[in-house]
Amino acid sequence: MSLAQRLMRTKPADLIVAEGGRGEGGELRRTMSLWQLTLFSVGATLGTGIFVILGQAVPKAGPAVIVAFLLAAVTALFSALSYAELAGTIPVSGSSYSYAYATLGELVAWVAGWCLMLEYAVSVAAVAVGWGQYLNSFLRSLFGWELPAAIIGSPGQDGGVVNLMAILIVVLATWLLLRGASESATANVVFVLIKVVVLLFFCVVAFTALRAGNFTPFAPMGVAGITAAASQVFFSYIGFDAASTAGEEAKNPKRDLPLAIMLSLAIVTVLYVLVAMAAVGAMPWSDFDPESTEAGLAQIADLATGSTWAGLIVSFGASIAIASVVLTVMYGQTRILFAMSRDGLIPRVFQKVNPRRQVPVANTLIVAAFISVLAGLVPLGQLAEATSIGTLFAFAIVNVGVLVLRHRRPDLPRSFRTPLFPATPVLGAIMCGVVMAGLAGVTWVAFGLWMLLGFACYFLYGYRNSRLNAEVV
Ligand code: ALA
Repeated sequence: MSLAQRLMRTKPADLIVAEGGRGEGGELRRTMSLWQLTLFSVGATLGTGIFVILGQAVPKAGPAVIVAFLLAAVTALFSALSYAELAGTIPVSGSSYSYAYATLGELVAWVAGWCLMLEYAVSVAAVAVGWGQYLNSFLRSLFGWELPAAIIGSPGQDGGVVNLMAILIVVLATWLLLRGASESATANVVFVLIKVVVLLFFCVVAFTALRAGNFTPFAPMGVAGITAAASQVFFSYIGFDAASTAGEEAKNPKRDLPLAIMLSLAIVTVLYVLVAMAAVGAMPWSDFDPESTEAGLAQIADLATGSTWAGLIVSFGASIAIASVVLTVMYGQTRILFAMSRDGLIPRVFQKVNPRRQVPVANTLIVAAFISVLAGLVPLGQLAEATSIGTLFAFAIVNVGVLVLRHRRPDLPRSFRTPLFPATPVLGAIMCGVVMAGLAGVTWVAFGLWMLLGFACYFLYGYRNSRLNAEVV
């Protein structure tokens, strides 16, 4: 078999599904219901994007930031439809990695898996880095004191030595994950309910201070401002695909995964548009600070009520929101690595399941250690931007995957079919490309370097150890 043929070998979808759930030493447990899956995706999605990045994006688009959120939602929707179709056809835990393996071949699958590390592990580290700041604004409002800068900043930045608070939130999430998938999902349901209630509370408070005059001029920066803001707030939609990493622990994956993906996107879109309307309605757009890294919504809530209790509630919501993003996204990363390890592309330790707890314990600990080092020691601003580009690339692969699988395997039973085929996946792939093109040059360079590292790892390890190739040669 030639090199090209080996790189493009696909793993039959039926085989991927048949292997589902099995790891070395034990099996994962099917415990997650439709609502737990939906709230898993919502948990991974609602976070820094709405609490912080909304405030940074308003100066770009003015009140039309509302349109930017809708535009980003449409971009996410096309890809979500493709995710839903593939998750219903190949309901395993590897998300885009597994879909690419079934459709576009091993090398593209590796690329997808490598991009997912940006979407999951790196993004979770970047999100955890900010946790200490939200906690601080909560503590400041409640008790009037703050945590020392040395333990909430990255080394060399704002007096930081080691970001112990970022490590703490990762350790707490790890503890929950090791208790079991069902326990983590239940904790996540509580976290999500809190953050949704806090965002609704924000809307009520901000709507009482609404001034119609704040909506004019509606789009002071024109269409260019709106599209720039849309690229920035796209980050807030990342995570709706998290349910696709739980395929092997879902009770009824074929039916529930597509529904969970679509429902979670619908829930966050409605919330985002409401929150964006409330925010720009309550505070003149020119008062928003593009550089602010604190939860801008807390400041608006204080302004709207003329006191600090409302901001306190919002800061509390932001702290909980980040905790649930860390928990769910870390979970997703472990399950993607689990699928990659089962295929031999990464070491076998990642697919070992603890027979008593029915979770991949060693895998979870390695992921936690990696994320803790990143979050505790590295200022992640630059890398965080690379998160979006990696995610968009993985989304593009999923859109192309839908086209390929419909062509090659029209016979496979599909519990969900994307409507208006082939227009939706084609548009989905194009829109991912457009948003990627709008990202900064330095982000592309970071992405290119990340990919080079990925190819080196693949040819040094994955290519030689791939189970699929070993079976053929
Ligand atoms: N969508 C996630 C957030 O906004 C990554 O924090």
